[in-house]
Amino acid sequence: MVRFSVTRKQTAPIDGQKPGTSGLRKKVKVFIQPNYLENFVQATFNALTAEKVRGATLVVSGDGRYYSKDAIQIIIKMAAANGVRRIWVGQNGLLSTPAVSAVIRERVGVDGSRSSGAFILTASHNPGGPNEDFGIKYNMENGGPAPEGITDKIYENTKSIKEYLISEDLPNVDISAIGISSFGGPEGQFDVEVFDSASDYVKLMKSIFDFESIRKLLSSPKFSFCYDALHGVAGAYAKRIFVEELGAKESSLLNCVPKEDFGGGHPDPNLTYAKELVARMGLGKSSSGQEPPEFGAAADGDADRNMVLGKRFFVTPSDSVAIIAANAVEAIPYFSGGLKGVARSMPTSAALDVVAKNLNLKFFEVPTGWKFFGNLMDAGMCSVCGEESFGTGSDHIREKDGIWAVLAWLSILAYKNKANLESGKLVTVEDIVRQHWATYGRHYYTRYDYENVDAGAAKELMANLVKLQSSLAEVNGIIKGVRSDVSKVVHGDEFEYKDPVDGSISKHQGIRYLFEDGSRLVFRLSGTGSEGATIRLYIEQYEKDPSKTGRDSQEALAPLVEVALKLSKMQEFTGRSAPTVIT
Ligand code: G6P
Ligand code: ZN
Repeated sequence: MVRFSVTRKQTAPIDGQKPGTSGLRKKVKVFIQPNYLENFVQATFNALTAEKVRGATLVVSGDGRYYSKDAIQIIIKMAAANGVRRIWVGQNGLLSTPAVSAVIRERVGVDGSRSSGAFILTASHNPGGPNEDFGIKYNMENGGPAPEGITDKIYENTKSIKEYLISEDLPNVDISAIGISSFGGPEGQFDVEVFDSASDYVKLMKSIFDFESIRKLLSSPKFSFCYDALHGVAGAYAKRIFVEELGAKESSLLNCVPKEDFGGGHPDPNLTYAKELVARMGLGKSSSGQEPPEFGAAADGDADRNMVLGKRFFVTPSDSVAIIAANAVEAIPYFSGGLKGVARSMPTSAALDVVAKNLNLKFFEVPTGWKFFGNLMDAGMCSVCGEESFGTGSDHIREKDGIWAVLAWLSILAYKNKANLESGKLVTVEDIVRQHWATYGRHYYTRYDYENVDAGAAKELMANLVKLQSSLAEVNGIIKGVRSDVSKVVHGDEFEYKDPVDGSISKHQGIRYLFEDGSRLVFRLSGTGSEGATIRLYIEQYEKDPSKTGRDSQEALAPLVEVALKLSKMQEFTGRSAPTVIT
């Protein structure tokens, strides 16, 4: 057995290592500075405490972006030096964020070991490559992201760090080959196990969904399917699940080979960045001329986000979670016993609220960020949840789950078409959505993003919106001057949340303007950007009348958009006459 020793390396604090909503995300150029990654990893070990780290089994993997392979070797050497007993690595360092969560919760090693946490190497939907982003976050034994108590400690530690432990003489481990490498250190044996990235996740999906009924749908000549992994890690799962398990054609996979730079693209599944899929589905200007598939979906870099499309039809993420919740009990075996509750983030449309009310389900509105759902799920209060930011998921893990969402939709399609596959007309994605609107009403919804705005200007814009809320008469005066056909604001506040599980209070979670007719305007600063500030404007209008639910969304929302831009003085503060991205 190869033996290794432990070196104590002197280091000094490096500024700016505060983990954001989803870990530490910086340009690769920042991460490759001497000691940058090492300081953060040691700060994490110290936050977890040496007692918990010693003897532990930890997972290390990610979306395969540039610098991951180097980072994995560094973390392995530091784990060995800190007395970790085992490191589990997905083959080639690949594990989607949801798969990491599944591995922490479900995987049992050959010797019966279970893992207690993971370093996930990803910057999610941000581009990758030598000039782009890298990221690292730590997930706990419940499979969810470290809570603020831990991330705050990590940050504090990065500000006072003096040394880190590393086993410099531990040889690099071949992470391309499945198997266990064992080493001997001062505290005993240390193993690195490289395992198949997909098996545990596939097994979990098979225990949730009825694969046989989805297989029937996918193999029906009436149905056609397309999945775009945007060269992210979802590709490592798509072939196994959609092609090998469910019988989809290989040609239905787009960009499903994971690449370190995501093929130079922006791995964010929305109408702007998933260009190829959008064209294939007959949406947007660059339609290919061929008949589009019945169903299309895309994932982000680490495969926790999803976008669902029908033929020439976009399903908003807010509608998607509402429709999944409305159909889950009938269409998905995992939920056959009923839903414990449902939840959405505050800026997500109220489509889910209406479903919850109609089906008499517990309902929660939480701040943006998946961790708030995790608390509810750990307490057994929530089964299905989702966010407008293309995240949908359930309590099967503690992360949002891009492939789960696609399987949920395929299950609903399979269920609705049980009788139609042999003979009869296919119920399409569009039919399902329109039927949902007819039953529950429609929440017209759009989001305007202003990216990389001057941080000072963004703050001023937000401060002005808060100030305005002290006089609704003034607000309504401004609105009347812009559009007489928009209803009036009856309430304005900054969203505040008291976690029903741990009682913690989160303030300043977005500025809300609530209208008499149920419409909403929400303004938030993004917590995930890596340059300048990103202002997000969320616009929503509820329409109950079934004869009016079929309008074009941008057209229906135009009056509210106009009001939002005037009220916020968007152009005055930011100098922008148009948003960077509209979703
Ligand atoms: C990440 C989190 C999501 C959250 C999103 C918001 O993806 O996991 O839970 O909705 O960030 O991003 P934003 O840029 O709007 O803060
Ligand atoms: Zn992601």
